[in-house]
Amino acid sequence: MSEQIIQQNPVLISTRGLTKRFGSKDVLKGIDCDIRVGEKVAVIGPSGSGKSTFLRCLNLLELPSGGVVTVDGAVLFQSDMQAKKDVLDAIKAQIKALKSGEASPEVKAHQEEAAALKEELLHAHAELKDAATKAKLAAIKLAKKSGSVTEEDVQDAVAAREKATAVVAELKARLSAVNAKIKQKKAEAKKSVDAAELQRLNEALTQAKAEYATAKKAHNAAMRKTGAVIDEHRRNMGMVFQHFNLFNNLTVTENITLAPVSLGLKDLAAKRKELLKRKLFKHEDVTEQLAALPDKLEIIENAKTNAKRLLARVGLLDKADVFPSTLSGGQKQRIAIVRSLAMNPRVMLFDEPTSALDPEMVGEVLEVIKELADEGMTMVIVTHEMNFAKEVATRVLFVDDGQIKEDAPPAELFGDPKNDRLKEFLSKIL
Ligand SMILES: Nc1ncnc2c1ncn2[C@@H]1O[C@H](COP(=O)(O)OP(=O)(O)OP(=O)(O)O)[C@@H](O)[C@H]1O
Ligand SMILES: [Mg+2]
Repeated sequence: MSEQIIQQNPVLISTRGLTKRFGSKDVLKGIDCDIRVGEKVAVIGPSGSGKSTFLRCLNLLELPSGGVVTVDGAVLFQSDMQAKKDVLDAIKAQIKALKSGEASPEVKAHQEEAAALKEELLHAHAELKDAATKAKLAAIKLAKKSGSVTEEDVQDAVAAREKATAVVAELKARLSAVNAKIKQKKAEAKKSVDAAELQRLNEALTQAKAEYATAKKAHNAAMRKTGAVIDEHRRNMGMVFQHFNLFNNLTVTENITLAPVSLGLKDLAAKRKELLKRKLFKHEDVTEQLAALPDKLEIIENAKTNAKRLLARVGLLDKADVFPSTLSGGQKQRIAIVRSLAMNPRVMLFDEPTSALDPEMVGEVLEVIKELADEGMTMVIVTHEMNFAKEVATRVLFVDDGQIKEDAPPAELFGDPKNDRLKEFLSKIL
């Protein structure tokens, strides 16, 4: 599918202002991204930049901290709880600064002065160390009569050391004077806190607290609801990880049929319950519909047939009844892909599917992914295989420090990178 056509396709997954915070660490810092039907999006970026977290937030394996995730236009996740918390924290910090005198413009000015002095002092210390070493060396050389060091040279070196000592002492004195001023100005500011400003901030605090509480409540309610909605949407999103995650105590076929069978049975039970309710409470005749429902054996057989078809497709039909421990890494990963495909997903999410493989097995897995891409599967793939990204992706995202820093078709992103961090990243790996 050409790029122009894809740009007219409907958006399948969309994020706005997506954030994720672990403890006090902001791992995703507001990601806006649309993934259209048929797109193959490669995600690249340095280690720890948030690529996996981004992928895991798309199917809510990881719960975002804020922002919106929609799938097929339906909101899967939405929360402004974190944004409200940030506002609340900022107001608290302002109040604290005002009460402690830190907010006074005079204090701030002196603090800037102190910071500059500290910087100067750091350099001065380094110079003093240097001068002291030189003076010591000169004295030693003179004593040993080695080289052409004269009495005068030593005196010069000692003078330089003393000068550097004096500079340090002077800077230290200035710094301590500024620090004293800061203390004094803070004390003054504390005594004359702007009452009107404090009241304004306190009012803002009350409001921010209320807004945060409301957002938190909505967030928690949405999370309870999301549990059910997520299941529905996860069926549409296949996920393949670096480390296969196959069940070692189940055969290959069992691994593949586990999810479709259990979901099929769950659906069957729900449908049957619904029909029986109609019969009991609404006195409808549902005999035909009940008879048309598949039976359990049929569901299992269908799943097995589908597994065989998919295994044949990746060239592993002969492995249907073996246990994963007897397979190579490349074979395991192809099975993991088949397992995801067995759910008929609308989009596949791959997180470095080849980086745990021996080099000779990378090709066979990439080949399977490439075939899927050619068949039109929508996919997002975090990868370090730049050649693969160049060849298969319709779009590449460069993620750095929790943000998408560049988003372009591969030819442009690799051929004419704009962002400095991307240039640096590419120069290291290409
Ligand atoms: N469950 C977690 N708890 C705390 N911190 C986490 C958690 N998961 C990820 N992080 C941190 O979030 C940051 C981003 O991690 P992530 O795994 O998304 O990076 P990545 O871009 O996929 O890196 P890599 O290329 O190494 O796989 C890292 O600093 C990581 O330590
Ligand atoms: Mg990762």
